[in-house]
Amino acid sequence: MSDRLFIFDTTLRDGEQVPGCQLNTVEKIQVAKALEQLGVDVIEAGFPISSPGDFNSVIEISKAVTWPVICALTRAVERDIDVAFEALQYAKHKRIHTGIGTSDEHIQFKFNSTREEILERAVAATKYAKRFVDDVEFYCEDAGRTDNEYLARVVEAVIKAGATVVNIPDTTGYCLPQEYFDKIKYLKEHVDNIDRAIISTHCHNDLGMATANTFNGVMAGARQVEVTINGIGERAGNTSLEEIAMILKCHKQLGIETNINTTKIYPTSRMVSSLMNMPVQPNKAIVGRNAFAHSSGIHQDGVLKNVQTYEIMDPKDVGIDDNSIVLTARSGRAALKHRLHVNGVDLTEEKLDKVYEKFLALADQKKEVSDADALMLAGADTADTHAVRLDFLQVTTGKGVKSVASIGLDISGQKFEAAASGNGPVDAAIKALKKIIMKQMTLKEFTIQAISKGSDDVGKVHMQVEYDGSLYYGFGANTDIVTASVEAYIDCINKFKKEDE
Ligand code: KIV
Ligand code: ZN
Repeated sequence: MSDRLFIFDTTLRDGEQVPGCQLNTVEKIQVAKALEQLGVDVIEAGFPISSPGDFNSVIEISKAVTWPVICALTRAVERDIDVAFEALQYAKHKRIHTGIGTSDEHIQFKFNSTREEILERAVAATKYAKRFVDDVEFYCEDAGRTDNEYLARVVEAVIKAGATVVNIPDTTGYCLPQEYFDKIKYLKEHVDNIDRAIISTHCHNDLGMATANTFNGVMAGARQVEVTINGIGERAGNTSLEEIAMILKCHKQLGIETNINTTKIYPTSRMVSSLMNMPVQPNKAIVGRNAFAHSSGIHQDGVLKNVQTYEIMDPKDVGIDDNSIVLTARSGRAALKHRLHVNGVDLTEEKLDKVYEKFLALADQKKEVSDADALMLAGADTADTHAVRLDFLQVTTGKGVKSVASIGLDISGQKFEAAASGNGPVDAAIKALKKIIMKQMTLKEFTIQAISKGSDDVGKVHMQVEYDGSLYYGFGANTDIVTASVEAYIDCINKFKKEDE
C-alpha cells in the first residue's frame, strides 16, 4: 500500500455549491492557480453539464493549470460524459468523475429502480467514460448509507469496467467514524480487484464528523481524500483540506505523506474566503482568526516561556505571517500590494490602482487597515459596474425616537430619492429603498460581522433576499453598518435586475 495520500480538492465544485458563494470564471482561475501552488493533486473544476458557466470554467481552468489532474463531474448519463470530455479538452491531465446513488434510499426514491439496474448503469457509465479518458473515477453516491455487501459488488464491477479511483462518499454526513473505517476496511477485504484502484473518501460534515471520518478512511486504506478549503460546501460543508494536511504533518509517525505545501494554506484560505465572501469562523481549526491566539493568562504565560507548552504547530508552517506590516493612510501602493500578495491575492496594476483609492478612503476613517480590510477592498469591485448604486444615505436614530432614513439612488444614471421611518435604522433605510425599487422583495437572512476589533472597524453584512421565488445573496462592507446593510440589499437587487434584463 502506498503511503502517499492524494489530495483531491473540490472547492470549485462541491464547495462552490454553497448558496451565494458562486465565483465567476476569472475568480475560479485565481483559486485554481492557488490550489496548484498549494500542491493539490486533483482539482475538481466543475460539473460541465450543469450550466454554461460551469462548462466554461472547466475549459478555462484546464488552460490555466499545468500539474494537477483536472476533474469534471457527471451523472451516470452518456450526455453528461460527452459534455465533460468536451470541457476537459485542454486539460493536460484529465479525469472524468461519474457515478450514481447506491443506497436503497437513492435507488428507490431518486431512481425508482432496483439494485441490479443501478449496478448495470454504474458499469455502463464507467465503460462509456473509459472510451474518452484513462483516468475514470466512479462515485457511489450516499455510500455512507449503502449496504456494504452491495457496495462491494458495485465497487468490484466498476473497477472491472475500468475505474481507476472509486469514491465512497458519505453524502449525508451520517456515518460514525468507526462505521466509516469499517466500510473502507470491508471494501479492502471483500473486493477482489481492489488493488487495481485507489479508494477515495468524500465526507460531509452534517454531524461535525467529516474530518474524523476522512481520517479514519485513510487509516483503513483510502489513498485519496476529497476536501475543500475552509471545509466549505453544501449544508455543513465538506472535509477541510487544511485539517487533513495538518493532522498528517503533526503526526509524522503515521508515515502518510501529501504533496501539500502547508505554508500556502493560510493565504489560500483567505483568498477563498474573500472571493466567496464567506467568513471563516474565528475558532476554525488551523485557519480561524483565533486558531493560534492564546488569551488566557495561564496559556500566555506558558507560551511566553516556551511555545511548545500550548502550541502543537508553528503558525509559520501554515503560512501565518505574524510580522504583518500595518497599513495606514501613509502606506504606499507597494505595501498594499505586498499585504494582498501575502494573503494570496495578486492584482493587476489597473485593479491595484482602484483598490488603492478605496484603501486611502478607508484609511482616512480607520487608523489601521487590517489584512481582512484589504482583502475585503480587493474583492469589492463589482459595485462599480452595478446598475443600482447608493448615492447618499442619512439616518436619524436613537433611544426613544423612531428611526427615519432618507436615501438617494442612482439607477443607470437617473437619480431617485425617498424617505421612510422604521423600527431601527436598517429597517427605515430598507423601507426607503423599497419605495424606490417597488418590487416584492423579502429579506430572508441578515448577518452582520465586524472584521477585527475597534469601534471604527469595517462591518461586513451578508444578506439573502427573496425575489420572484429565488434567493439572491448580497454583500456590503463599510465602517457604517447601516450603509453596509443597504449596500448588501442593493447588491441583491443588482443580481436579480441583471437576470430580469
Ligand atoms: O457528496 C457527494 O456524494 C458528492 C458526489 C457527487 C461525489 O458530492
Ligand atoms: Zn459531496
